[in-house]
Amino acid sequence: MRPFGLNSIHKKGGKVKKFYIAANWKMNMNRAGAKQLATEMKAGLKDGKNKYMIAPSFTLLQEVSAVLKGSNILLGAQNMGLEEKGAHTGEVSVLQLLEAGVQTVILGHSERRHIYKETDGLMNKKVKLALKHGLEVILCVGELLEEREAGHAEAVCERQIKKGLADVSVQDLVKVTIAYEPVWAIGTGKNASPEDADAIHSSIRKTLAALYGEKAAKEMIIQYGGSMKPENAAGLLKKPNIDGGLIGGAGLKTETFLPIALFSE
Ligand code: 13P
Repeated sequence: MRPFGLNSIHKKGGKVKKFYIAANWKMNMNRAGAKQLATEMKAGLKDGKNKYMIAPSFTLLQEVSAVLKGSNILLGAQNMGLEEKGAHTGEVSVLQLLEAGVQTVILGHSERRHIYKETDGLMNKKVKLALKHGLEVILCVGELLEEREAGHAEAVCERQIKKGLADVSVQDLVKVTIAYEPVWAIGTGKNASPEDADAIHSSIRKTLAALYGEKAAKEMIIQYGGSMKPENAAGLLKKPNIDGGLIGGAGLKTETFLPIALFSE
């Protein structure tokens, strides 16, 4: 059972805007550290009103799953194999993720796209496979510095969304979150300004509206990711098109994660 409904918790235009704040631990933490941090986050967020997720490494899923059981924090995976099973050395399948208690999966992270050369087509297959098995998906998009400097940021995100979501129905879209992560802002300490980020989020919403209609696009959660930290989170989250955060470095400590996660307008 999921702790709460999918993107339906997001009441854009209503009285309370719920944010979706997720920690992507990337290739960090050992077993003891993961257990401790997840325990602290569970306690720190127990009265939190936003939607939460933690994505540890595959080897830590079982440990973190046990800690998060019965909490208001979803368990996420950072990637997923392309097929349900078979000859895919080094991959972890959707069925294995489900068995480990995973509820959502991050797909298309720029570190997958740029270090491991995963393509839009591959991403699309993974998105559809995850949705077929009832997992929620966070689909990451974002431009490289040279693409931004050439004025192509919006076009890159548009392409990644159109290709990443090809053949995904509007019914399945409720299980999808988009994370805008400008590659030049990830792990660099340089975040996009709230205005720049909001402008791209707005163009992403336009792309979604063209594909799925205004209503569905309005209800979509679009997270920002890239050097989000307590000092800049409020400025970003107050922008109308920024609905949450996908957090790397600041998600590795409660002191930096909780102030962001507990943000409310
Ligand atoms: P940082 O917050 O460390 O910049 O990482 C962002 C990110 O890539 C989250 O997926």
